[in-house]
Amino acid sequence: MYLKNLKLKNFRNYKDENIDFVNGINLFVGNNAQGKTNIIEAIYLCAIGKSYRTIKDMEVINFNSNVCNLDINYLKEDSESNIKININDLNKKEIIKNDIKIKKLSDHIGEILIVTFSPDSLDIVKGSPSKRRSFVDMICCQLSKSYLILHQEYMKCLKLKNALLKKDVIDKEYMYILNEKMSDYIVKIVDFRRKTIDKILNKAIDIEKKLTDNLENINIKYISDFLDKDREEVKKYLNEHLYIDILRKSSVKGIQRDDIEIYINDLDVSKYGSQGQKRTALLTLKLANFEVLKEEMEETPILLLDDIMSELDSDRINFLLKYIEKYQSIITTTDASFVNNVDNIQILKVLNGTLEK
Ligand SMILES: Nc1ncnc2c1ncn2[C@@H]1O[C@H](COP(=O)(O)OP(=O)(O)OP(=O)(O)O)[C@@H](O)[C@H]1O
Ligand SMILES: [Mg+2]
Repeated sequence: MYLKNLKLKNFRNYKDENIDFVNGINLFVGNNAQGKTNIIEAIYLCAIGKSYRTIKDMEVINFNSNVCNLDINYLKEDSESNIKININDLNKKEIIKNDIKIKKLSDHIGEILIVTFSPDSLDIVKGSPSKRRSFVDMICCQLSKSYLILHQEYMKCLKLKNALLKKDVIDKEYMYILNEKMSDYIVKIVDFRRKTIDKILNKAIDIEKKLTDNLENINIKYISDFLDKDREEVKKYLNEHLYIDILRKSSVKGIQRDDIEIYINDLDVSKYGSQGQKRTALLTLKLANFEVLKEEMEETPILLLDDIMSELDSDRINFLLKYIEKYQSIITTTDASFVNNVDNIQILKVLNGTLEK
């Protein structure tokens, strides 16, 4: 699939702008604070239905306006589709696909497949477990709407359980019922995460070898308390830990504690990897993410690369450019000097919320 064009009206620092994309590399060049990341954010919003920069939708509305509109056309399976997003200053958001209003976010996700990569992505390798969980969950959700729904249902139960654990009097019978319900979700979520991580690893092994001239082997281990447990065993485990939940006034066990460990040549890269090895591992993970989505969904995802070229050395930049030249990517940068001998590229200059070729 690929994006054809995007109209932004009163979105962040854009008043009224139209971008026609090429089915290749779309490079946005500009100084700091001109509106490069805002374009990435707009595409992300169209694809996922919410921003990754804010939980308050209305923050994306231009300071001088009270509504903003995004309008994106894309080609998927040879037919053209359209998504419109309208947000107003009462924080109301409408998502409209081909003139039909989308009722639930879960109906929308996966419609436009994306892989994002920014300097913050390095947190996947060296940040807290939640960053790695989000990385895995984002892929799982794009692969399966049912996964997203399972995850949402689980999180609802967790929220309720945590709220009840804060009370002075605990209704244990009700806790057992909640644990039983959560066990159901846990078994399914863990199974899907495990399969997805296996798929990522499968692709990553090859990519890491190519990136490092066979010098480095990557391994990814899924860490979870529930790996080999069936529904009954999960329920028993949760119930056995209820007294600690009560003492701590919060759920201590659950898939909200899962993690992945990333190894390069048998060493945990978060603990022992050099800066370069961490960046290489991340690039490998992102390209593996791309490959998994492409293969499973039988569609090519769109690569959103925000300001990462300055983070990579010339070997890795060349590897990446070679890799992505067949696909559509949206790349932002302050310095376009890495571009030479690249075909199929469109370069747009970003200056204070306006674009020019
Ligand atoms: N709701 C809004 N209305 C108007 N302008 C906004 C709004 N939100 C953010 N901006 C402005 O948009 C500008 C550009 O932001 P953006 O993050 O896209 O910059 P950038 O080109 O990616 O810069 P950098 O190279 O520093 O990452 C900022 O100066 C910011 O103040
Ligand atoms: Mg930026």
